[in-house]
Amino acid sequence: MRSHTATMVDRIEDTSRADREAALADAGHNVFELASDDVAVDLLTDSGTGTMSNDQWAAMLQGDEAYAGSASFDDLAAAAEDVMGFQHIIPAHQGRGAENVLYGAVLSAGDTVLNNAHFDTTRAHVAANDATPVDCPVDGARDPDTDAPFKGNFSVERARRVVDDVGADAVPVVVLTITNNSMAGQPVSIENTREVAAFADDIDATFVIDACRFAENAHFVQQREPAYEHDSVAAIAREQLSYADACVMSGKKDGLVNVGGFVGLHDDGRLHEQCRQRGILYEGFSTYGGMSGRDMAAFAVGLREAVEPPYVAERVAQVQRLADALTDRDVPIYQPAGGHAVYIDANAALPHLPREQFPGQAFVCELYREGGVRAVELGRFAFPDTDRRDLVRLALPRRTYGPDHLDHVADTAAAVCERGTDVTGLEIVSEPELTELRHFSAALQPVA
Ligand code: F0G
Repeated sequence: MRSHTATMVDRIEDTSRADREAALADAGHNVFELASDDVAVDLLTDSGTGTMSNDQWAAMLQGDEAYAGSASFDDLAAAAEDVMGFQHIIPAHQGRGAENVLYGAVLSAGDTVLNNAHFDTTRAHVAANDATPVDCPVDGARDPDTDAPFKGNFSVERARRVVDDVGADAVPVVVLTITNNSMAGQPVSIENTREVAAFADDIDATFVIDACRFAENAHFVQQREPAYEHDSVAAIAREQLSYADACVMSGKKDGLVNVGGFVGLHDDGRLHEQCRQRGILYEGFSTYGGMSGRDMAAFAVGLREAVEPPYVAERVAQVQRLADALTDRDVPIYQPAGGHAVYIDANAALPHLPREQFPGQAFVCELYREGGVRAVELGRFAFPDTDRRDLVRLALPRRTYGPDHLDHVADTAAAVCERGTDVTGLEIVSEPELTELRHFSAALQPVA
């Protein structure tokens, strides 16, 4: 049984298939262009879409809106230190704001950044600094069928080969993304985190953890890494983050809020000062950084709730339940399920579509047409220059949907699979210049 009740409702509008067909055409077959009122179950993202607790709402009423020296900032900084172990934070309006603050401070043109797998905004920020993002997944990470506990791990072997090629001086930053969002939400072990920390130290690089989903990752460590089976999620999270020099945090995920973020640092040396100055320039003064006092107050409470039992165990179990419902209906998914999302393998579901016709995006459009379900493509459409599989992510907002919603999603996905060769491929009609972010605004049409 769930350990909480919900006492606020958000109505779901009823739409017909014809309404959805028209909305999809208007949206240029890009679900980012849909109005949320036209969506029945919104699994576009788990970012900023969750439900806050009454304690978070209560904290919001006490938000301190002072420009400088806000008490709400002090609360957030204290939570970041208690929960994540970072003594210093530079606040930002969300994760990508923090990425801009940090990566702009540490990267120069021509640099290379190594990451277990770059998320789209991370890749774009690295590229915006004229640096090259290189993914270092472990063997088997791209295989949707191998069952392994930590498919999100960073391959130090692969990374060493890159360093041999470009030279250690060209690699100022090594990033570990936990959980690994663009690798099907797979977790990273603490053993691997230690290896990556030693590797970064070895090449004199700053070791950054992208900590957006640090609590979900800690839960997997507790369940799957034998040395940690008796430790609490809170203790595991603190240990894992202690190996990093810095973190980038989006409060919209495991901060359990609708907006907010920060860069976390263990000391207040040169990097802290550089980030602080960039923070003031791009985000706002160092005690709010683009968040209102109310946002920071809710974020402070959310961070603490994210590592409290049984929150994260229930969260990950719900994702697993959706994975099971899909598997029961023979919908091919990436195995095992991730911490925040289930990823459908569109290449296996729609094998008649060549990769140039974006089978992942075709599946996304069909999910919407069929049952008003909004998902996101994380395959060749979102990541143009990679050879990854065409995955469709069903991300679950935190503390939001119930079992009936999940059944509807699974039934809808099964219906799409049954349509099989009736599903047509797509081609791009227009796309923005910055191809790293094209999936947010490109327009497509069905292939004739
Ligand atoms: N890093 C990772 C691993 C992310 O998943 C995201 C956002 C960010 C950084 C940027 O954070 O959105 O607060 O600016 N991921 C969302 C998603 C958008 O749908 O997965 P942000």
